[in-house]
Amino acid sequence: DENYEYRRLKQNQVPVKRLPDALIIGVKKCGTRALLEFLRLHPDVRAAGSEVHFFDKFYHKGFEWYRDKMPPTLEGQITMEKTPSYWVTRSAPRRVYAMNPSVKLLAVVRDPVTRAISDYTQSASKRPSLPRFEDLALVNSSAVWGGAPSVVDASWPPVRLGVYARPLRRWLRRFPRSRLLLISGERLVADPAAEMARVQEFLGLKRVITEKHFYFNSTKGFPCLLKSESRSTPHCLGKTKGRSHPHIDPKTLERLKDFYRPFNERFYQLAGMNFGWP
Ligand code: A3P
Repeated sequence: DENYEYRRLKQNQVPVKRLPDALIIGVKKCGTRALLEFLRLHPDVRAAGSEVHFFDKFYHKGFEWYRDKMPPTLEGQITMEKTPSYWVTRSAPRRVYAMNPSVKLLAVVRDPVTRAISDYTQSASKRPSLPRFEDLALVNSSAVWGGAPSVVDASWPPVRLGVYARPLRRWLRRFPRSRLLLISGERLVADPAAEMARVQEFLGLKRVITEKHFYFNSTKGFPCLLKSESRSTPHCLGKTKGRSHPHIDPKTLERLKDFYRPFNERFYQLAGMNFGWP
């Protein structure tokens, strides 16, 4: 854009590719794409568009490979990428630390019950023959208990990924709490400008992303953008973001809520923040 070209000429700089200064490390289905697209509204942020998967899948390719995946930036601009699977990759904290011990980390978290349904909805959209959510989330323990399925299957990935405390502890063994910003997925929908103010402050950016960038699209049921770097007309995130969820049997929802309650408490303690999930 104009501002960018202007600074480039003024400072006589040529943009170069750099390793990331900040990473969106997770959590899958919590609003990571929305966060990245909102951040890209900022002229001092440049981000890789697609998930790079360096710290989980392609680490063996080395840092030069990784750097080449990044967009060129001017000095002072922040280089970013988002790959939600980093959150649960055991070796990721160590590897990220090896790249840059003062990297800034961002993670979006959301009520794990809704997250699980969102995760399931994504899988079901690719595989229509997938069993019902209720049948996958609960273990059929009728043989043991002589009743309806009642035990949450903690090993089913959509359920397991909502236990945020364990991965958080792993990241905090390597990085100080002040280097990780936890973003509420609910607030990112309810008040994107307020949540983005926290994000910009954390990244040391001028507050450029404000209320003026967003409008609430009531058909979509989500905040959308009035304009962005690539488009000057109003637009929402793609069809794969903000899908409608299937109706879930209330008993299953209760079981899941009970299952997550102690993990959420533990997570709030470690995070030093209460996210207010039911
Ligand atoms: P659903 O599609 O289940 O509603 P991720 O990008 O990490 O995969 O997260 C996808 C989720 O981001 C969506 O899940 C949606 O709830 C949430 N989201 C947050 N802000 C959004 C926005 N402005 N537009 C669309 N989806 C948004």
